[in-house]
Amino acid sequence: MNSRSRITLPRPLDAHLHLRDGQALATTVAASARQFGRAVIMPNLVPALTRCQDALAYRDRILAAVPPDLSFTPLMTLYLTEGMRREEIDRAHDEPDIYAVKLYPAGATTHSDAGVRHLDRVMPVLERMAELGLPLLIHGEVTDPDIDIFDREAVFIERVLIPLRRRLPELAIVLEHITTAEAVAYVQAQSGRFAATLTAHHLLHDRNDMLVGGMRPHFFCLPILKRREHRHALLAAATSGDPRFFLGTDSAPHARSAKENACACAGCFTAPAALELYASAFAQANALDRLADFASRHGAHFYGLPVDAHECTLIAESWQLPDELPYLDGRIVPFHGGQTLAWRLETER
Ligand code: DOR
Ligand code: ZN
Repeated sequence: MNSRSRITLPRPLDAHLHLRDGQALATTVAASARQFGRAVIMPNLVPALTRCQDALAYRDRILAAVPPDLSFTPLMTLYLTEGMRREEIDRAHDEPDIYAVKLYPAGATTHSDAGVRHLDRVMPVLERMAELGLPLLIHGEVTDPDIDIFDREAVFIERVLIPLRRRLPELAIVLEHITTAEAVAYVQAQSGRFAATLTAHHLLHDRNDMLVGGMRPHFFCLPILKRREHRHALLAAATSGDPRFFLGTDSAPHARSAKENACACAGCFTAPAALELYASAFAQANALDRLADFASRHGAHFYGLPVDAHECTLIAESWQLPDELPYLDGRIVPFHGGQTLAWRLETER
């Protein structure tokens, strides 16, 4: 049993991560490799990663950016488009480094323009994925301009997810970065290979933190932060021990100039202190003894992977997160940058 001042856990798995590409990898890969042994890598590059060969070339660029003293395994995904062919799914299934396919409703978020407008058009591909057991990762928000941004996740469940599950109940699904009590209840009611990821920022914050006393662009992400009651439902789910809920940071780097902007980009760069942030959330719920399952076991189990053989340790020791880091030609603000954190992560080398 862990003492309160030290928690040792298998190296965690980040089941939802944006690393970007090119020069950005120097910052983003180092930050995640310090925290995680493995991560499921999002394919929303420009152009989108729609082919296995592109995803594998991206994997090589990520591996080349891993600092020499760290180990980090990228688990690659493909970007679902209406033009995708069933043969690409067959190739993905045969390729051991590709783990899933990501569904972005077109226009829902950053770099989602190449995404799906009509689910009917991708049904043959989804049917093939169901046959082969390749999971679908879903950004679960409708894009209908008549639907309020705070309701887009709940409406997606009603309009898209429930009908999809009825048509294809055997398709393995991860509903990514859930933000509402409705999503928690929906996941809890599912059977079969169905799970959800939870971010640290949605476990720690509600929309007041973003909007009261000034507008704070570093809290702006999609799906957007919701009311406090939703945060409490998410925290209860994350700390419940239910294996269908697991860690996915959705760490989404944008340069300081793109965040502190009249039209701020959506995304929180949580990777530099991800585990420490999750530990704060679990401490609030008095559930630090559940953190290892959530961060290191449930996600691995969903993807059929062994639990990481290496360990890391969280120490109850305050330290200050830098207020910015070098990024591309400028700087990036880590989520909670400049603040004092209550936990510090030490990783076994
Ligand atoms: O806030 C977000 N940022 N949500 C997403 O779904 C995408 C991400 C990004 O890529 O910046
Ligand atoms: Zn994401």
